[in-house]
Amino acid sequence: MTTPLLEESLNVNLRKLELLQLERRLDSILEEQDFSKKIFKEQLNILLEEEVVFRQERAIKMRLKLAKFPVLKTIDNFDFSFQPDMDKEGITSLFSLKFIEEKSNIILIGPSGVGKTHLAIALGVASCQGGYTCYFISFQTLLENLRKAEEQNRLRRKLLTYCKPHVLIIDELGYLPLNRNDANLFFQLVSARYENGPIILTSNKSYIDWGNLFPDEGIASAVLDRMLHYSKTIKIHGQSFRLAMKRKMGLFHHNVDQ
Ligand SMILES: Nc1ncnc2c1ncn2[C@@H]1O[C@H](COP(=O)(O)OP(=O)(O)OP(=O)(O)O)[C@@H](O)[C@H]1O
Ligand SMILES: [Mg+2]
Repeated sequence: MTTPLLEESLNVNLRKLELLQLERRLDSILEEQDFSKKIFKEQLNILLEEEVVFRQERAIKMRLKLAKFPVLKTIDNFDFSFQPDMDKEGITSLFSLKFIEEKSNIILIGPSGVGKTHLAIALGVASCQGGYTCYFISFQTLLENLRKAEEQNRLRRKLLTYCKPHVLIIDELGYLPLNRNDANLFFQLVSARYENGPIILTSNKSYIDWGNLFPDEGIASAVLDRMLHYSKTIKIHGQSFRLAMKRKMGLFHHNVDQ
């Protein structure tokens, strides 16, 4: 029988060490097990292993929450047979997450609905599961935030916050052409992360069209230079998954891709 004093001291120590799962499980384990026949270390190890798993899962949940993914997608629910021309091996190899340690950018290029955002999120989710931090932001929101920060004289700090996560996902470059100030802000962000941490970028524009997206060739090639120095480009040429699903459900009308 444990004394109330021992009980209290044990609880205080478990809490100080933040062994939350152990605290939760201790009594039931003690009831389940016959300690006179078991080695105490073995039992303690079981409890500590549970604690480690519990903490890892909690940390993953936290990283997934902080990443602000608009929706959760994984590589397991990506149908490669739908895009037979895709470099399946090249894409699955990215999930080893070596690109994070190598600080190598990933640029996903292709038309609407082909799975660029899906794959970017799947890589982000895998990063969170692998112990890395990630942040997802649309290109438009990123620019709005950078503009606002510049107006309020806190651009440097804002750029630093976008340098913190191991992986930064910037979704949808290319829907609108950039004016000089926006292009310059994006260039500053790319420079700040250059050789520090990877960016995963999705775009519906191929590199050749980046010249038209940026106000001049000079800034386009300065951005491209840094983005491509260490990078892997994934081009997706196939048809829109969204449209294919609509066709399948008999809901297809022209110009409907929402
Ligand atoms: N090969 C695929 N397997 C399973 N789901 C897919 C596949 N391709 C796309 N999808 C799904 O289709 C929808 C559209 O894909 P996604 O948003 O990734 O396209 P996108 O290339 O980013 O398009 P956009 O340029 O319009 O943003 C998503 O719900 C995504 O999960
Ligand atoms: Mg997208």
